[in-house]
Formats: sequence, C-alpha cells, structure tokens
Amino acid sequence: MSSRFYVTTPIYYVNDIPHIGHAYTTIAADIVARRHRLLGDEVFFLTGTDEHGQKVEKAAQDKGRSPKEQADLMVDNFRGLWRKLNISHDNFIRTTDPEHIRTVQGLLQMLWDRGEIEKREYTGWYCTPDERFWTEKDLVENKCPDCGRPVEQIREENYFFLMSKYQERLIAYINENPSYIMPESRRNEVLGFLRTNDLGDLCISRPKQRLAWGIPLPFDDGFVTYVWFDALVNYFSATRYLAPGAEQAKAGDFWWPASLHLVGKDILTTHAVYWSTMLMALDLPLPGTIFAHGWWTIEGKKMSKSFGNMIDPHTMADTYGVDAFRYFICREVTFGLDGDFSEEALIQRINTDLANDLGNLLSRVLTMTEKYFNGSMVKPSPFGRALSDYSRECIGAYANAHRQESWDRLQFSAILSHIWEMVRAANNRIAQTEPWKLAKTDIPGLQEVMFDLWNTLRLVALSLFPFMPETSVKIWQQLGLKSLIEETERTRREGSVLPGIYDQEWMPDYAVVVSKGEQLFPRIDTKMKEAKNMTEDTAPAAQTAESPAAEPSNLIPIQDVMKVELKVGKIISAERVKKSDKLIRLQVDTGEPRQVVAGIGKAYTPEELVGKNIVVVANLQPAKLMGVESQGMLLAATGADGVPIIITPEKDVEAGAKIK
Ligand code: ME8
Repeated sequence: MSSRFYVTTPIYYVNDIPHIGHAYTTIAADIVARRHRLLGDEVFFLTGTDEHGQKVEKAAQDKGRSPKEQADLMVDNFRGLWRKLNISHDNFIRTTDPEHIRTVQGLLQMLWDRGEIEKREYTGWYCTPDERFWTEKDLVENKCPDCGRPVEQIREENYFFLMSKYQERLIAYINENPSYIMPESRRNEVLGFLRTNDLGDLCISRPKQRLAWGIPLPFDDGFVTYVWFDALVNYFSATRYLAPGAEQAKAGDFWWPASLHLVGKDILTTHAVYWSTMLMALDLPLPGTIFAHGWWTIEGKKMSKSFGNMIDPHTMADTYGVDAFRYFICREVTFGLDGDFSEEALIQRINTDLANDLGNLLSRVLTMTEKYFNGSMVKPSPFGRALSDYSRECIGAYANAHRQESWDRLQFSAILSHIWEMVRAANNRIAQTEPWKLAKTDIPGLQEVMFDLWNTLRLVALSLFPFMPETSVKIWQQLGLKSLIEETERTRREGSVLPGIYDQEWMPDYAVVVSKGEQLFPRIDTKMKEAKNMTEDTAPAAQTAESPAAEPSNLIPIQDVMKVELKVGKIISAERVKKSDKLIRLQVDTGEPRQVVAGIGKAYTPEELVGKNIVVVANLQPAKLMGVESQGMLLAATGADGVPIIITPEKDVEAGAKIK
C-alpha cells in the first residue's frame, strides 16, 4: 500500500557557499526519499535556501551587492551542488519566493488576530552573527552562550510570539510521541531543557532601521519578520505551491504535515521548540519526526573559514566520485552522532570497501561468467537444491538491510554494513568454492555457484540504490538486468513476486547476458596523495613558480589534472610577510575570501598587486609559510633570472570563475 512521505532538509543560508555539512543533511534526505520511492510511496522531497536576515544582508554588504543579488548568486551554488551529488529533490524553495512571503504574512496575521502576538518593549543582549537575543543569565562570561562572541545590549520595541504558554503542551506532546524528536538522546535533551527552564516568549520582529532585509510584518510595516519565523514556515508554505499536485490541492494543503524534518543538532531547538509551538498556535498538525544528526569536524577541528579547513563537496565528488563520497559520509559515522572527516579515512574506505570488496567482486563474477558461460547467466536446475548456508546468510543480511526499524531510526551505517555482509559472503564463497577448479571438474556445481554470486550482486545493487544510485544502476546493468531498479523493488513490495525476489531461484523471464564494464572504483594511490600533503618545510618552494618543472618521465593521466581546481582570484589587499623579502600575504576573492601567501616579493610590490586578477589553485591543502597560513597557491611563470611573473586571465573575468 503506498502512502505519502514528505521529507525536508534545512533551508541553507545564502551568505556563503555550501560545505560538507550541508551536503551531509541533503544526502541523508535523498537516501530517505529514494528509499520511500522504492517502496512505492508518493514522495515530496524539499530543500532550499534561507535568504533573509542579518547574515545574508551582511554578506551582501561585504561583497558590495544587494541582498537579493547575493541570494541569486549563491542559490546557484546550492542548486549546482545538488545536481552534482545526484540529489533527487522534487522542489527547491527560496524564502524570497512571493508565494512563501505571502504565506508567512498570512500566518503572522492569523496569529496577530488571535492574540498570539504582542508588542512589548524589550531589553536584551543581542548576538549579531547568530541573530539571537539572550537574557543576562544566558550569557557565558558576558558573551554569546552559543558562539562565544561578544553581545551588545539592545533596547527596543518588538513583537513577541507568546511561546511560553505552550510549554506544558509541548512537553506532553513529546512524551506521548516517542518518535517526534530523534534520536532518543536528543529527545531527552529537549525534554530536559523544557522541564528545567521557563520558556520565554519569542521575539519575532526586527525594527526596519536595524534590519531592512526581511519580510515586512503585515500589521506593522516598521518591522520585518525574524528570520527564523520566516524560515521555519518554508516547510508549510512549500506545500501550497511546490508540492506535487499543490495547484489542485491548495485548499486542502494535503502535503502538510511533513513526515520528516532532517536537521543538524545546531538547529534542533528552533525546530523542536519554536516550530512546534508556532504550529500549535496556528492549530496546524505537527510533523512526524524531527531528526537531528551530529556534527562533522575536520581532522579533529571545528570546520571554519578561519581555520581554512572547509571541505568543498564539489572537490570531494570530483576527486573521489559522487557515490564514494555519499557512501563514506553515511558509512563512517552512525547517523545522529558526531563524526570526524579526513581524506585519509575516505581513501581507506574507497580502497577497502569499494574497490577491494565490492568492485573486485563484481569484476570477478562477470569475468568468470564471460569466461565459463560466454556471459550467459543460466538458472541452475530448481530440483533438489536445498537452500545453502550461503543463501541463508545473504537472505538474512538482505532482510536486515531492509528492516523497517533500522530505516525508521535512519541507521545508515548499520544498513550499509549489512549490505557488506552480503558482499563479504560472496567473496568468501569464491575463495571457498574456487570456481576455476569447478570449471574443470563440475559444470553444474560451477553454474550453481555463479548463479548464487550473480544473485547476491543483484540484491546488493537493489539495496544500495538509495545510497549510491549511479553505482547500483551500473551493477544492475552489468549483471544483464533490463528492468529499472526502482520498478523491481516496487513490484516486490506490491507482493506480486514475493518471495520470488529473495529466492535464490529468482530470474527474469528473458535471457540474461552479463556485460562487464569499466572498474567501479579504481584504487586510490595513497603515495600520490601523500606527495600532495606538503609539510611546512617543503611548502615554500611549491607555493611559488620556483618548483622544478615536471620531468618528461613524470607524465600524468588526465584524471590527475582534473583533480586540480583552478580559479580566478581578485587580489583585494596585499602586504609583506614580516621578516621575509620574498613572501607576500594576499587576501584574494575567489568567490569566497581566502588568504594566499606567495613568493613574489622580489618581483612585485604589495601596492601594484592590489586589484590584479590572478590564477589560484583553490583545492590545495592549507600550508604555513613562515608561520602564515596560505589557503591556495598562485600561479606564476618563471621569467628571466628566475623572476616570477604572475599569470592573469587575458580578459576581465568574475572572481571565482573556474579555469578548465
Ligand atoms: O541554520 N556538520 O542554515 P545553515 C554537520 N538557515 N552538518 C552541518 C555542519 C557540520 N559541521 N554544518 C552545517 C541554517 N551543517 C538555517 C536553517 S531551517 C528552517 C533554517 C548542516 O546554512 C546541518 O544540517 O547554517 C545544519 O543544521 C545546517 O547545515 C545549517 O545550515
């Protein structure tokens, strides 16, 4: 029986470009959406961008753009990334959409008319970067308790949503609905907070003279709406104009409530408390589940621009492949817990799980089928075949990988490990039965083994589809299957071939001929990777044009060239690095600000560099040069006497433009 499933990601701020944290939540939502589509559910998967508020206004100011220009520019970064990562969202909401703005104003008016909003004078401590008010007792050493940055005292009139009156009702709701907030540890945190603190009322306005970039309050145009009130409403407003069939169903809003809001733990309170109480006050149903996942750090450090350790998901996908990246972030860490990202761990997973275990298995099975049976997969005789231990093991692992409870709890890593139980069992079966020996002595036995292996790969492809859609389709096709994966699983669910599809005897009704394609996951040469990791000592040479030219014997494949991300950068400011006559510290706009240290100080003065367009290697690991961090490398030619000559684009191009 099919049902409706509506899943959302947070809508991301357009003040900056997306990083792996954003990719993480969106990939997780994509996995859930694909799984539900496989099950035959009607799915609405929504993502989008949060475009109002101080953060965006400030980012725009810094770049000399209007907030809307900033949003229009940045939204493409998100859209482009989701295309690259194979995200199957059904629609994309922007909080500057006129329909969204109308809905926010409509709901505000309704709350105002119902007396759920009040105007009050307010004195509070305001954290500008976080856009949040704090009371005196919230502050930690007089600083923002969330981000530790200084706060300023502000006194002003504002509008308040009377959130406090919903405190008891919210506690009761969470108690009665164990899967409302997940995982359980987060649920306990929210309950603990609600039981021990008095919920205040929520300031939902900002005076226009302090913040112009927002949705005007419908009942007082001297104010704009607090960005979180605006943003949270996206989940509801999208059901009115972006959901499948929204046009016809406007009156019924049938896509509301959402089944699942996926968020990071940083924004659990806004969802579990603000959003829930807003919905209560509006007499709207609450979403099914709010699931808060954990936080990625990078090699043990918080991810931040100032550390220069932001991980660009584009680069990860280009370097290692989209599916390898999707696999890694779901397999490495239990969804819900914090995790640490490192390229070493990613490479390790690619080389072991993907290249060794899965890629090799497929390649060996197809090679042997081609060699021994001309590529034809023939069903072994059904009579007298007892279910082998091997088949039992695979069927058990398959059933575990599809267990509803694991999916309800979004246990991606455990699900993947069950899928790999099948992969390992198949590899063991090859080792134990030695098909190349059977080929000489026992053809029916060989047929049976090859069929079992083929069948296991079929079940692996089916199970992997939500996680690695491209890979699983490749496996499927190489196995000689002509149907669409999506349809196969739906048929199973609808019961027409059950338990056939689990059955070791299952076979489509056409002749199956396998066709070996290219290797799924080539191994990554870790030595090459190590060579890229510059140390502090070796970095200076590599940062300038003085590094030795490649020897003719050092020819590299095109894939290596593709790994280098070159961008146009505009030099914003330049100064000499202290105690060095060679090094200059540059602040460069490459679509995002970055600091580059270059050994060009003998050839250029800082003054003549400012305003120049240069070429920057944008995906170089940060390195320190005389103690100053360089987040990239500038390209320069070696002129006469070894003098570096900066390479610039022949015509004026926008900062951040890619060089191919
Ligand atoms: O908060 N690890 O947007 P945002 C894991 N606009 N996930 C991370 C992460 C990390 N290090 N960093 C970010 C906003 N994320 C609001 C949301 S919703 C109505 C409004 C992910 O651009 C994670 O999902 O700051 C987190 O909740 C979200 O990005 C915050 O994105």
